[in-house]
Amino acid sequence: MYLTKEEERIYNGELGWAKQVCMKILVKLGDLFGAERLIPIGSAHVSGVSYKTLGEAPIDFLEALASANEKTMVEATLNPQSLDPEYLRKRLPKQLLERQLDILRSFEKMGFKQTYTCTPYYIRETEKNSHLAWAESSAVVYANSVLGAWTNREGGPSALAAAIIGKTPDCGMHKAVNRKPNILVQVEEAPKSEIEYGALGIFLGKVLEDKIPLIKGLKNPTAEDLKQLGAALGSAGMVNMFHYKEDETKTEGLEKFTVEPKNITETIVELSTAESPSKPDLVFVGCPHCSLSEIRKIANVVYGKKIRDNIDFWVCTSRHIKERAKGYVHKIEASGAKVITDTCAVVTWTDKLGIKTIMTNSAKTAHYAPTLNKANTILAPLEECLKTALKE
Ligand code: F3S
Repeated sequence: MYLTKEEERIYNGELGWAKQVCMKILVKLGDLFGAERLIPIGSAHVSGVSYKTLGEAPIDFLEALASANEKTMVEATLNPQSLDPEYLRKRLPKQLLERQLDILRSFEKMGFKQTYTCTPYYIRETEKNSHLAWAESSAVVYANSVLGAWTNREGGPSALAAAIIGKTPDCGMHKAVNRKPNILVQVEEAPKSEIEYGALGIFLGKVLEDKIPLIKGLKNPTAEDLKQLGAALGSAGMVNMFHYKEDETKTEGLEKFTVEPKNITETIVELSTAESPSKPDLVFVGCPHCSLSEIRKIANVVYGKKIRDNIDFWVCTSRHIKERAKGYVHKIEASGAKVITDTCAVVTWTDKLGIKTIMTNSAKTAHYAPTLNKANTILAPLEECLKTALKE
């Protein structure tokens, strides 16, 4: 891979060991995936922030990088961590909190913004055609497919290295030729709810491997529908981008694949592992983190009502959206529900809170919760989640 003189100096350790390690990570990846050079990025988004998913091993490395006084060269945001500032902090063991804070201190010292959200695109407008190094799969698919930005699916370490160097290898999704659809997916019946969009994503994620689909047959999807589709695609497989506008590209010569209505209904049934009927311990909405309009919608339904006894109801979002939605947050919390920032049900320890069954409108959460939360799942649209959580 070609390196500029400055990049070579970093590679050779002339600007310190920490930058050298980061440069070596990028060059290794670039060589592996056939990049000819590094390109500047507009922003980096790092995953692997939650102590629950990160574990002990990388904490020393993060602390060493932070002690070397390396700073991010571009806007760098962080994915959800394992705790929120108020509610869960009080309910989970102190030792977990301390280790989580160790991780956050290191990132903070390096200049990362304390965003703790999987929807960094709600915080700041992402420029079309900008090159990014993002590591949260749901955000990667959304950025490539809906926002028109260009990013590979980074791992936590490569996004961190890109943030410190301010560049990423010019390969994969950074090349126009690799962003063209290579399979035409005809959806026979357009999804009608967010869970059907999510189920479509899980189903396609499993069969498409890393192909880029042009999906035909969606009827006026909202941005939130596309967010559910992308999050599910990213969690069930290696798809990093989808096309969905009818006129977006030519379809001649593409391999064809049809999604029948039963593929969606069967996937929803598979994603609901709890025996029916079951009462959830937790109703969780906000995977990926809620937008302002999702918060507004929930507030308008729950206002003046109360959450049932013995049910937790979490609405997860970013600090940024919570701050902007103060009036709606007040209405939601008056019902007994919690508007939780910085984390989500999947990356915190719901099992330590005694939660055995999670009801959610997110196919991604339903996909992960049986393993990551040791919980049974009920996948249902928002209206049904609210009906279950609220007193008659
Ligand atoms: Fe975000 Fe947690 Fe879902 S990190 S995408 S809300 S699993």
